[in-house]
Formats: sequence, C-alpha cells, structure tokens
Amino acid sequence: MKKVTVSTLAKRVSADEKLVMSTAYDAIQAKLCMSAGIDFMLVGDSVGMTHLGYGNTLPVTMEDMLAHTAAVRRGAPEAFVVFDMPFMSYQQSDEAAMVNAGAALKTTGADAVKLEGGAEYAPLVRKMTGAGIPVMGHIGLLPQRVQVCGGYKVVGRDEAGARQVLEDALALQEAGAFAVVLECVPENLAREVTAKLYIPTIGIGSGRYCSGQVQVITDLLGLMEFKPKHAKRYIEAGELISGALKQYADEVKSGVFPAEENTFQ
Ligand code: KIV
Repeated sequence: MKKVTVSTLAKRVSADEKLVMSTAYDAIQAKLCMSAGIDFMLVGDSVGMTHLGYGNTLPVTMEDMLAHTAAVRRGAPEAFVVFDMPFMSYQQSDEAAMVNAGAALKTTGADAVKLEGGAEYAPLVRKMTGAGIPVMGHIGLLPQRVQVCGGYKVVGRDEAGARQVLEDALALQEAGAFAVVLECVPENLAREVTAKLYIPTIGIGSGRYCSGQVQVITDLLGLMEFKPKHAKRYIEAGELISGALKQYADEVKSGVFPAEENTFQ
C-alpha cells in the first residue's frame, strides 16, 4: 500500500472526497482502522481518558504520547499519523515546543503534530512548518483549557466567539497549518470557516459541512460509558467484550475451559 502523505490529503480534498479520521492509540486499533480504509489517524491526548484512566487530558505526558504514537505507527506503517502535543509540551516556550515536536517526528515516525490554540500560536506554527514539521491546528473547544473554560462547551455561538474562531482558522492557515480541527462549533460557523479556508477543516461536533470528520475510536466502538452528543456508536463493543469475559470466567469456574482442543498432551 502507498504511504499517505499531506499531498494525498490535499488531493482527496480537491477531488471533493470527505476526509475520514479516527483516533487510534495502539497497534491493534491502527491496523483495524487501516483495514477499514481509515488511513488518517490521530493519536489524541484523549488517550488520557480513553486508556490511562484520567478524568481529562491534562496529566498526559510526552512519554505517554511517544509510546502510543510509536505503537500506532508500528500497526499502520502507511497511515498518515498525527501526534497530539500534550498539555505543557508547547505552551512554555517555543524552544521547548520545537524540541518536543521534533522528538515526536524523529522517535515515533509520526507524519505531523497537532496543537490546540488559535492566532496566539500562529508564530509557533510558522516556526514548526518552516523547520519541516507539518502542523494540524485545533480550535473551538480546547480540552487542554477545560479548567479555564469551566467545562466542555460549544464555542462560537455568539458573534464575538464566532469571529474569533474564523480569525483563528485564518491565522493558522496563514502560518502554514495543513489542516485545522474544529471542535464543537455550531454547524453554520463550521460551514462558513470551511468555505473561507483553502486548507481542510476536520470537524468533531461541528456538523456536516467540514472537509472531513474525526471521532474518538472508543466512542465509535461503544467502549466508554459517556456518549458525547456528537458521537455515534457503530457497535456496543463494551457490552460484547464484558459478555465474552464473563463467559470465560464462568467456563474456567465450571471446568468447561480449557477443553481437550486447548490442551497439549
Ligand atoms: O485528543 C483528541 O482525541 C482530539 C480530538 C478530540 C480531535 O484532540
């Protein structure tokens, strides 16, 4: 299979194809995404909530992200893999941000990094892209700022908020970002931003008119108890898995497993 690159993504958008992105956090998920034709993957810092048991994304470290991204790359060598810069890996200084983004690409084989923030990060995005690090922007709801915003809320419902989202998107594009995630902005605003940009918008909770969609894999598969309004569960895998595990436990206890075919003589 041919390696997916930023040019593949640009070609798909010019051919009016919707971009499909999912998060993936390990080699098995990456392989499953590839076999489903989802070759555009985000190793999100949402790993903190989906796999590491935290209540939000703030505790996730560079080490966590490096390990999960390297696993995704091993599972899907041809996929386009985006490394999500974790909280405080790029906010402290541009120097630290460059070192961390460089390490993300060098040590995991990721194709790009993503960082949360708008126009205030445009100078950093310009530095990164200038140095050869492809950057995906992320505006709208910013989970790393949950403690400042007082919760996870739709962004851009009022005029000033909507203007800010548009200005942020344009500033990131101008700085060289190859795509921008729009998280939880009203559908009409996402449509307007998408129409005004030449780079693709990737929506999550931002309606039907973005250039593509990204979803958290555990939401798609029904592995988390909480179901966000913007997500659709395509399978109740959590229920199926706990049913299977219960059957295993029952069979060991009752002596049904292991059977003869599972035994070496
Ligand atoms: O970490 C993540 O999964 C994300 C998506 C919500 C876009 O940033």
